[in-house]
Amino acid sequence: MQREKWGSKIGFILAAAGSAIGLGNIWKFPYIAGANGGAAFVFLYLISIILIGVPVLFAEILIGRTTNRNPVGAFKKLSNGSPFWTSIGGLGVLAGFLILSYYAVVAGWAVGYVVEAARGVFYDFPTPDAAGRHFNALIGNVYWIVGYFALFMAITMAFVLFGVQKGIEKGSKIMMPILFILLIVLVVRGLTLDGASEGMRFLWNPDWSKVTGQTILLALGQAFFTLSLGMGAMLTYGSYMSKKDNIPISGLEIVALDTAIAILAGIAIFTAVFATGQSPNAGPGLIFHTLPVVFTKMPGGYIFSILFFILLTIAAVTSAISLLEVITAYFVDEKGWHRKKAVMIFGGITFLLGLPSALSYNVMADFRIFGLNFFDFIDFISANILLPVGGLFISIFVAYFWGFDKAIPNLKQGAENLFDKNHWLESYWKVFLKFFAPVLILIVLLSSIGII
Ligand code: PFF
Repeated sequence: MQREKWGSKIGFILAAAGSAIGLGNIWKFPYIAGANGGAAFVFLYLISIILIGVPVLFAEILIGRTTNRNPVGAFKKLSNGSPFWTSIGGLGVLAGFLILSYYAVVAGWAVGYVVEAARGVFYDFPTPDAAGRHFNALIGNVYWIVGYFALFMAITMAFVLFGVQKGIEKGSKIMMPILFILLIVLVVRGLTLDGASEGMRFLWNPDWSKVTGQTILLALGQAFFTLSLGMGAMLTYGSYMSKKDNIPISGLEIVALDTAIAILAGIAIFTAVFATGQSPNAGPGLIFHTLPVVFTKMPGGYIFSILFFILLTIAAVTSAISLLEVITAYFVDEKGWHRKKAVMIFGGITFLLGLPSALSYNVMADFRIFGLNFFDFIDFISANILLPVGGLFISIFVAYFWGFDKAIPNLKQGAENLFDKNHWLESYWKVFLKFFAPVLILIVLLSSIGII
């Protein structure tokens, strides 16, 4: 059977941007920026994207496009079957499982909140406390949390089931423009509120006193998570790409879209938060505790609350699709399975694996591993350990094992003109992938496990 390919260049860009743009941009980025000095964090985040994000993104897409394989097959092929490098690919597939299992739980909250918003619940929350109590009651309800988690998994599986072109590409081509339009509508609403300028000042005037070593690490970690790096999602999407396409340009377009969406989400959220007199540093609860109060106070809050949670759901679906595709591609490429069988079986297993995460907020609330509940434990292991480890080995693999002599000619395919005109590009990629990326990732990794 012939391996699938993207139908068009824009199809790849929208699908990859769909993977990158997710809960990380709309839920995580604003609350981390809010709690870490606003503009100062944004500045560090942008630096991290340029120093690490871009070079590692090029490397991942390149490995995929060169081999036309899933992460395991790709490393196996380029390392001539080395068991060590093959298992690095395996780590990516494992990380895909783990991330999807809890990511889909949070995404389920977004789906559930579309329904809450449509029911008009957000008319009546004078304080974040009241909204927080409502949120806790919902996630404390096993049926609510598991039901929406299951619904979200079913939606994700449906897209992946239809394959690369008919499922992922078509879905991204429809959902991503809707996401852009919804976000623009919300940004305009935010900017036209009385008192919006205070939110803008918060986002653009750095408060350096809030910056600590920890802030830099958060910015680096966020750069990684938001670009879907370190577990082979971009590698797998790159594997369906044509050799005629330009990796650096496509990569930069993906980064630009992802960064723009994070910043626009920040504008939409902080203008509204400041205009209604809320606090920007509510932490992970910003969206679920603070925004309901914003919607209660904002003119047109009913409709904007529905639009906001639809936006969040769409962003999460296109990211979850890429996580499930990594697992599916592995079983299709390496084990010769039918896509349908792989999606049904591993979508199902991911759901079972996610159950303890969903139950961490109710019946399993007292269950602890290293002092963390199951949800936080899986989040920590995958986002703080497996992704940086993956990114570290991807940069080491390209720079030191596969080698630039082989990698550069492949990277230049489809981008000959660009490299002819911009000699610095080759040196930038080499230097950053060889030195900056591995060293900085290692620092993040060691600090996140408390060694430094
Ligand atoms: N980039 C996604 C987000 O920002 O929400 C999360 C993610 C998706 C991480 C896919 C890793 C991945 F492979």
